[in-house]
Amino acid sequence: MQGVTVVDHPLVQHKLTIMRDKETSTAGFRRLLREISLLLCYEVTRDLELTTRIIETPLTTMEAPTLEGKKLVFASVLRAGNGLLDGMLDLVPAARVAHIGLYRDQETLEAVEYFFKSPSDLENRLVIVVDPMLATANSAVAAVDKLKSRGATNIRFLCLLAAPEGIQHFREMHPDVPVFTASIDERLNEHGYILPGLGDAGDRMYGTK
Ligand code: PRP
Ligand code: URA
Repeated sequence: MQGVTVVDHPLVQHKLTIMRDKETSTAGFRRLLREISLLLCYEVTRDLELTTRIIETPLTTMEAPTLEGKKLVFASVLRAGNGLLDGMLDLVPAARVAHIGLYRDQETLEAVEYFFKSPSDLENRLVIVVDPMLATANSAVAAVDKLKSRGATNIRFLCLLAAPEGIQHFREMHPDVPVFTASIDERLNEHGYILPGLGDAGDRMYGTK
């Protein structure tokens, strides 16, 4: 599918299976999400541009590769996005962070915004939106709408699971935003949950219900 990358690395798929299992504990779920986020971060940043700088090793001088451009922004869609965010910050500790508070209205499945805070200079930065679930994509579309309204032009969306319906909706609304996911599942159920999925990501991460 154009603009969609499925990260099918065996370690990602193995960890994802354990996360899907309803017997996996809250602590286990959180730990696995953090571990998977390291592997997904590796993929979503694979083509970042490099420049070089001169350094002194203990033995000699060399022109060594280093990331080019302004610091990345990771935009976490609350609550569950924070489970991906933590591991990504382990790999890119200097990244800036945006928080976008959204919840799904249970009846309409529309995204309702309750919080937004981001670095002010989004124009010249790569913004990677993180949320484990892309179901109807209403939340993802709303998050990207908001970031674009604040000046972001270079955006990627990273999730763990996506429904085909959500990918189609998201790509129609934001064809310029590539999607990275560990799996494209079968479909949505009548309540807008991903099947087979893993349940409610926020509840499984935080032990709420
Ligand atoms: C979940 C998930 C996404 C959204 C996906 O959040 O983390 O943000 O649902 O569904 P959608 O694609 O149909 O919009 P939820 O609204 O349950 O909030 P929470 O993370 O606070 O539990
Ligand atoms: N949000 C979730 O957490 N899980 C789903 O399956 C759909 C939306």
